[in-house]
Amino acid sequence: MPSLVSQSHKALKGSATIPGDKSISHRALMLSALAVGESRITGLLEGEDVIATANAMRAMGATIERVGDGEWRVHGVGVGGLMTPADIIDMGNSGTSTRLLMGLMASHDITVTMTGDDSLRGRPMARVIDPLTEVGATFAARDEQYLPLTLTGTDFPVPLDYTPPMASAQVKSAVLLAGLNTPGVTTVREKVATRDHTERMLAAMGADISVEQEGDIRVVKLVGQPELKPITLEVPGDISSSAFVLVAASIVEGSDVTLEGVGLNPLRTGIVAALQQMGADISVINERFLGGEPVADLHIKAAKLHGVTDLKVDPSTMIDEFPVLFCAAATANGTSRFTGLEELRVKESDRLALMAAGLKANGVEVIEFKDGIEIKGAAGKVPGGGTVATALDHRIAMSFAVLGQMAENSITIDDATPIATSFPTFTGLMQKLGAGLILGD
Ligand code: S3P
Repeated sequence: MPSLVSQSHKALKGSATIPGDKSISHRALMLSALAVGESRITGLLEGEDVIATANAMRAMGATIERVGDGEWRVHGVGVGGLMTPADIIDMGNSGTSTRLLMGLMASHDITVTMTGDDSLRGRPMARVIDPLTEVGATFAARDEQYLPLTLTGTDFPVPLDYTPPMASAQVKSAVLLAGLNTPGVTTVREKVATRDHTERMLAAMGADISVEQEGDIRVVKLVGQPELKPITLEVPGDISSSAFVLVAASIVEGSDVTLEGVGLNPLRTGIVAALQQMGADISVINERFLGGEPVADLHIKAAKLHGVTDLKVDPSTMIDEFPVLFCAAATANGTSRFTGLEELRVKESDRLALMAAGLKANGVEVIEFKDGIEIKGAAGKVPGGGTVATALDHRIAMSFAVLGQMAENSITIDDATPIATSFPTFTGLMQKLGAGLILGD
């Protein structure tokens, strides 16, 4: 369990390319593994979570290989062609792999047993088990809803008309992916719009999918059993990983950083708007399209941030970025208050509890609520000096690595290994920009 010590007051300078988007990388592997023909993917995130997806799709019959120059080639089995794996599949830390794959498996006549690490085995799966049971799949899960679990898919899947009870792109995608091998039309009605990478990629691969707004409800309809065309895709940089650099460059005096080719899907860009609302100096330049997704370069200069109590951003557009936003708030002038965030308690860790504990351990005053947090900004003078427990949560680890860059004393992160799940090049990339990060044994 190597620790990571973060301390510096050195400005971050230069430009960097952030690794590929995790959500898009998962979907690119899953959907190209169901296409007929060869797909070619570049810029795929080569983090542990995405590798878990690749291994699972291989175990169910797809051919996935990395060729020279970082290109990935996938030979699909066709919709309906998944096979029962020869062994249990281990999803590691990845909730996205687990939930989306459960959707795919549910409408195939296969049986799969899945497990994962301590964090993943503690995450609720009822949110996908419930709708997928209506599709016709059956489940044997520990305590009804936790991994390890065995899923038996059905030969006669039922097309759902489903309204997820929580804002969740994973639940939406699981239902849509089950709809792929289901005759008839599968409908998902979202009360809150969530990231739409599944919809965009299915449309790009020739599926008959429509998205319409009915009042406040976003209605997605997918006609089942399409023949998916293979794709040639360049995965944009991950805005969720970029968020760590956006905050670091905003809070360390004198910083000036450019990030190239960051994915700016409008259902993912809440972190940019939130930081701008707090006074950050971020400009969006060179806007373009890459693989059906909007992309741009981001230019960030350090700025004096102020607290925010009326965040004008929909939490679903930045659900993974709250931990690092809390760190930005800890450095700001004035108090910040964030609510409506109960979903943060069921991420890779209970992110409200862990962020509150980590901030307190580093001298920041916080009040934790059931669904949020209040943070008293230290006006540029975070004491630091504490050790943070990361509980297998990559984003907690990286958030405090960022905060340590401006704290008065170093911040120690107890375990740096989870960073490899989503941003394996984080430490080196940050060091290249000038960050002070020391990996322990
Ligand atoms: C993801 C959806 C989000 C997010 C996760 C990735 C996806 O989860 O937190 O990191 O790729 O669909 P929820 O759907 O649980 O909000």
